[in-house]
Amino acid sequence: MLGICYGMQVITKQLGGRVEKGTKREYGHAVLHFSDVDSPLFADMPDSSPVWMSHADKIAEMPPGFTTLAYTENSPVAVMGRDNKIFGLQFHPEVAHSPYGKTILKNFVYKVCGCGGKWTMGNFINESLARIKQQVGNGKVISALSGGVDSAVVTTLIHRAIGDQMTAIFVNNGLLRRQEVERTLEVFRLNLGMNTIYVDAAARFLKRLKGVTDPEKKRKIIGSEFIKVFEEEAKKMGRVDFLAQGTLYPDVIESVSSVSTASAKIKTHHNVGGLPSKMTLSLLEPLRHLFKDEVRHVGLGLGLPEEMVWRQPFPGPGLAIRIIGDVTKEKLEILRSADWIVMNEIKKAKLYRQLWQSFAVLTDVKSVGVMGDYRTYSYLVAIRAVTSDDAMTADWARLPYDLLARISSRIVNEVPGVNRVVYDITSKPPSTIEWE
Ligand code: XMP
Repeated sequence: MLGICYGMQVITKQLGGRVEKGTKREYGHAVLHFSDVDSPLFADMPDSSPVWMSHADKIAEMPPGFTTLAYTENSPVAVMGRDNKIFGLQFHPEVAHSPYGKTILKNFVYKVCGCGGKWTMGNFINESLARIKQQVGNGKVISALSGGVDSAVVTTLIHRAIGDQMTAIFVNNGLLRRQEVERTLEVFRLNLGMNTIYVDAAARFLKRLKGVTDPEKKRKIIGSEFIKVFEEEAKKMGRVDFLAQGTLYPDVIESVSSVSTASAKIKTHHNVGGLPSKMTLSLLEPLRHLFKDEVRHVGLGLGLPEEMVWRQPFPGPGLAIRIIGDVTKEKLEILRSADWIVMNEIKKAKLYRQLWQSFAVLTDVKSVGVMGDYRTYSYLVAIRAVTSDDAMTADWARLPYDLLARISSRIVNEVPGVNRVVYDITSKPPSTIEWE
């Protein structure tokens, strides 16, 4: 058993130790030193290594039988263990800021649990095909295509598993980026013979979003409108049993709503949290245990083109959560134009694949500028570009100044309504990747 952070504290409490509120919240980098260099958990690690902490409570007394395996300056018990069977880590091995975190997790899985590591993506595809066939039986599935790699992979995977029993539906919610509709329809073409439906629901979404400024409300509206459109299409098709979605593991984790204060809800990702509770379709989510890089592997394994597989993630609620404040047609046009410039310049600089995401945000700030002989009072656009492994944590990308300069000058010159551009230099945490 391996308890991480709160998990370690739960183990402590339940096995008779004591957890106390720390005098201060420990947050950020710490340096881990071993007390027991022979622990199998620490194989192939240097004597000291950086780790990422994020906790307010601390272990005041370990449960009987446990010993300290490692410590940091502020956490005398940073790692504890009993009989090489139960371990607790106070820090977060799963985030990129703990560079040896993966080594610890690997050691736990291979050296402590004795797993063999035989799982491959090839197996994943074959096993998923069998699982999907079994779950669906002779039911009917509709698949939501969104424009992103996740839904392209899901749709292709399911089409391969059950063929004609699936119909792919692409709802244009009017919140997509420039040329995204065309690029999404490409999936239809690639899956020859697939049942397909294209719905242009842009006007409907915009009407529902009119005047709405709260990000979570936007997500809920978009999520429920999405499902409504689907249900309408499904009704036209006669009996439909399943709705396929490209939900990934990080979406699942971050949408866990809190019953206690221990795991606070961060954002409800619409393809998980925003679904109405009285949905009449069951969910088919074959990727819900995968991270993005694994989905890309699956995509390549299924023969999808590289350009599609390496598309940066794009959120389900689309540009609606990149427009701060209410969403209008005019603002969407401004953002589309600015975003198009960002994407093309990043691609030209050959940085597109290295970045997890790079995009423009239309803020609701207006500021004064001067263009020619005129005073302007126009929008502020923010550029966000981050590196990340899985979106759980992210760092702002150190883009070259001349690239930022080109993006900024093109946006203010080519996009009417914008007279100022700023670059977001915050990491996640404490910020999130999206602004809303
Ligand atoms: P945040 O902003 O929470 O984003 O750091 C993490 C990743 O999730 C994407 N994201 C969403 N995806 N529906 C989605 O399908 C959403 O409501 C949503 N909000 C954020 C975001 O683009 C990033 O990749």
